Amino acid sequence: MKHISYLHGLPECRETRNPEDDGPRDERYIPPDIREIDWNRICWEKRKQKSSPTGATAYWDKRAPAFARNSSKSDYSVKFLRLLEVKPQWTLLDVGCAAGTLAIPLAERVKRITAMDISGNMLALLRERCAKSGISNIQTVQGAWEDDWNALGIGEHDVALASRSLITEDFESALTKLDRAARKRVYVSTIVGDGPHDRRIYRALGRNLNPGPDYIYLYNLLYRMGIRANVNFISYQERNSYESPDDAYAHLSAKLEAATREEGEVLRSYLKENLVCHEGKWMMSYPRKISWAVIWWDKEKA
Ligand SMILES: C[S@@+](CC[C@H](N)C(=O)[O-])C[C@H]1O[C@@H](n2cnc3c(N)ncnc32)[C@H](O)[C@@H]1O
Repeated sequence: MKHISYLHGLPECRETRNPEDDGPRDERYIPPDIREIDWNRICWEKRKQKSSPTGATAYWDKRAPAFARNSSKSDYSVKFLRLLEVKPQWTLLDVGCAAGTLAIPLAERVKRITAMDISGNMLALLRERCAKSGISNIQTVQGAWEDDWNALGIGEHDVALASRSLITEDFESALTKLDRAARKRVYVSTIVGDGPHDRRIYRALGRNLNPGPDYIYLYNLLYRMGIRANVNFISYQERNSYESPDDAYAHLSAKLEAATREEGEVLRSYLKENLVCHEGKWMMSYPRKISWAVIWWDKEKA
């Protein structure tokens, strides 16, 4: 098919495939100006500028108990599960599973789950939860995006998902591993805009908030990889609650890695001004909407 370029300054497109003509992934037409943009490097540049630390295993080990407590309270997992068209015969890979935000509620709805995470503490909490609830179809694997997944014995699953856990330097390699691990479908969720970060706290601490690459960067990367993904959005009001102001301080200073005594003091006085007690629980006095993008695609039929 012949297309005539009508946009000044852009390279003229000559022989192109019709975008609706869904051929094999590696033969899909990608406009040359898009192909030239190194979205993987751009994602990494954005990630490097990210204000909150999220890379190290020790960071997630430390956050594990509070993360497990709060993630099971948010509407996120309920809304994510509504988007999945779960089938009872599915085998599922959940990368960056934490203490089972999704794996626990999914366990009774699918055949088998491989739950992988870099943090031993998160996985220990997940195993504890499984034992308490009599769940026996979740197998935990301690591992990272960067590891050799063959050596970890990850194998193929019907569906592979990474929920809020694409935390890596090499996004393309991670997405390729996830894609290869899935026979039928892949789901990746990631931030929209500020994601779960509270810009007001950053401002109070005198820090800039750089939340890292939001979904549109990943979407572009996937497009360049020949993957034409779908996107749904999950939004809800944050409802994090704490047992006491001290508990809120412990949770938020670990999350933000409050570096100096001064920062710790600013955070304490911020919490004193902004925490309110409601039915015995402490929470922020202001509502905050959090949005996530769920990017998903079907694998090609053989
Ligand atoms: C924000 S939590 C998301 C957890 C869960 N999937 C959810 O949606 O609630 C990110 C998780 O990714 C894990 N993680 C961080 N870096 C990782 C890496 N390089 N490889 C695998 N998992 C990683 C953390 O330990 C943590 O459990």
